[in-house]
Amino acid sequence: AEARIGLVGLGVMGANLALNIADKGFPVAVHNRRTSVIHDFIGKAGPLAENLVPAEDYAALAAALTPPRAVILMVPAGGPVDSVIEALTPHLDTGDIIVDAGNADFNETRRREAALRDEGLRFVGMGVSGGAEGARHGPSIMVGGAEAAYAEIAEVVESIAARYQDTPCAAHLGPDGAGHFVKTVHNGIEYADMQMIAEIYGLLRHGDGRSTDSIAELFHGWNQGPLQSYLVEITAKVLATADPETGQPMVDVILDSAGQKGTGRWTVVEALKLGQSPMAIEAAVAARSWSAEKALRETGEGLLSPQDAPETGPRVLDGDLERGLLAARIIGYAQGFWLLSAASEEFDWSLDLARVAEIWRAGCIIRSSLLDDIAQAFRGELPGGALILAPAFVRMLRDSVSALRRVVAAAAVSGQPVPALSAALAYYDTMRQARGTAALIQGQRDFFGSHGFVRVDTGEADQHGPWGA
Ligand code: 6PG
Repeated sequence: AEARIGLVGLGVMGANLALNIADKGFPVAVHNRRTSVIHDFIGKAGPLAENLVPAEDYAALAAALTPPRAVILMVPAGGPVDSVIEALTPHLDTGDIIVDAGNADFNETRRREAALRDEGLRFVGMGVSGGAEGARHGPSIMVGGAEAAYAEIAEVVESIAARYQDTPCAAHLGPDGAGHFVKTVHNGIEYADMQMIAEIYGLLRHGDGRSTDSIAELFHGWNQGPLQSYLVEITAKVLATADPETGQPMVDVILDSAGQKGTGRWTVVEALKLGQSPMAIEAAVAARSWSAEKALRETGEGLLSPQDAPETGPRVLDGDLERGLLAARIIGYAQGFWLLSAASEEFDWSLDLARVAEIWRAGCIIRSSLLDDIAQAFRGELPGGALILAPAFVRMLRDSVSALRRVVAAAAVSGQPVPALSAALAYYDTMRQARGTAALIQGQRDFFGSHGFVRVDTGEADQHGPWGA
């Protein structure tokens, strides 16, 4: 045996992860379905080739490793993962470990973990965030599976992870699907954050008619303050980039139809199954779907636009946009963490949410200074277990929600869509009303279906109104 760990799937993410492992001094056996890719990859790896062991088939991959073997899979989610597992397992022995490092649906991870456990194998579902650059130089890594299985690979995983204040941004978070669930919610928060940033951009560009360069500068400036984050940083860079072909802003030559591989949608689907509605994330998924309705929007522009909204609304100050975005971002993260605690309870994971915030602090796409405050809040007093009720967040929201109101109001008046910003505000306003409007819903349900309600004065359940009288 010549390698410490195996890796299957030399796409961009897999190749970069393999280079990262090799770079940290661990020999890694690499396999790819198309074998020419293996040799091309090693041929281009420079001095790191020394730590890369080609494995043309699964037998060779298994032979290159010492039991208990550990093999990382970085192949597309769904069918391809099952195919690789099926082809690989005959070459493995009891106690060997398969690590799925792709963006898996956590239900599938739970299924695979149970099935492989029956065969005496161990399965680790490992969420990896940070894109291609992260995979190469330090991603954030969210692990689910048996603790003893993680112990076998922890040294490699923690040495390739990003570091924040000298601590690796990698952690074993819980059994079976816990890591992939946390990664899925990470992506849900990613969707919400990206959408909120895009909505602020829309107000500046379409509402206020500002140039991409001036908006880039604004975001660049905001990135030095409480909004400091990777997504705000790259937003400034994207907006400052010109198309080499035409000289136009790059963002103007890109079709306004957003892609989605599915993790945002999974977040919403799993949330709904748990009786949760992280509406800022739902709105972001919806906005991507609506963006893909390009033909409908093109027809709609001619028919709906002129009559419906004034060209300009009240002017929003830049400081309001900054603070409004901060308020909405806090609420988006808070909804994601609330979903994590609901899942933790349902699946008995005992997720350490402070630790989750800490491993998101570097390497991943949603890394931001706000995560420091979040980690601290989870380590301190937390009324109701809800981030928005932590003393520090109550203060931050008090200082920023009025700005969010002005942003959402101005957007509504001028006809600029801000689904994620307004969803965040609606959540905030709902959570600060001890008594809301659902008594009327209950009355309606009882009226047409005799569904019963609870009386507030006596606490009696299954009560009915005198509707028929
Ligand atoms: C990350 C990202 C990554 C994700 C892409 C594309 O954490 O590195 O979340 O895992 O696959 O961002 O996702 P969509 O195609 O769904 O936008």
